[in-house]
Amino acid sequence: MDERPIGVFDSGIGGLTVVREMLQRLPDEEILYLGDTARVPYGPRGAATITRFALELARFLCHRDVKALVVACNSMSACAVQAIRSAAPVPVVDVIDPTVREAAGASRSGEIAVIGTVATITSGVYERLLAQLRPEARLVGVPCPLFVPIAEEGLTHHPVARLMAEEYLSGLRGTAVDTLILGCTHYPLLKSVLAETLGPAVALIDSAEPTVRALNHLLDREGLRAPERVREPQHRFCVTDASYKFMEIANRILGGDFSRCVEQVCVEHPVEPLTGRSA
Ligand code: DGL
Repeated sequence: MDERPIGVFDSGIGGLTVVREMLQRLPDEEILYLGDTARVPYGPRGAATITRFALELARFLCHRDVKALVVACNSMSACAVQAIRSAAPVPVVDVIDPTVREAAGASRSGEIAVIGTVATITSGVYERLLAQLRPEARLVGVPCPLFVPIAEEGLTHHPVARLMAEEYLSGLRGTAVDTLILGCTHYPLLKSVLAETLGPAVALIDSAEPTVRALNHLLDREGLRAPERVREPQHRFCVTDASYKFMEIANRILGGDFSRCVEQVCVEHPVEPLTGRSA
């Protein structure tokens, strides 16, 4: 048994779709969430930058004594999970491995599509994992970068979301693709628009459920489960910038009022004071 919180992190609000599932499935576990709202989006950046940011976030959470880390971001899972695993003194769960397993088992046609950020799609990690699990399956990757700012701005039901879904996904309609992996933790926030755009023949696979299942197994395997609590766990939500929409959207996603549990933090290494050469 271990009462310490589980650290969950993302570039912004996307990881809250994983937190929502954790609140339902693991009600005794305390959560320490970190959203890098000062530097979102990560998806258009290179792997080295994403890895540097990811290590800063992981380090921050480990200093706050978490018992496990959930990388609730596909871009960081795709580019930085090895680096995080090597650096972290606690076990790490990522969102990609459990989700590919789920999709590989769910697809009948073996034609699977994944949508994600540019960093995630160009990493090729989904193809590599799927080839190991189901070699005859075929994967089509579609980068959908504008879905992240649409979700961060709370515009998931605005006509702009519909327009972009049509633009990004119309090429999948009428193909043999029967399974779409939402390969970015922001995208479940657009689920209804995505489902309307693709119709009922395509099943949408959200990473929250398989990831939390993997986390649940890990807690048992490592003896890290929290004891049954007499009072509600004290969840905390840290952000790196005073994002004016963060709490409003977070409350909507999580279905409660968590406004008193937010803290603005700094995760970057302190830099040396600037010294100029005097004239
Ligand atoms: N939610 C993230 C992901 O799953 C990050 C998106 C971004 O910051 O671009 O990839």
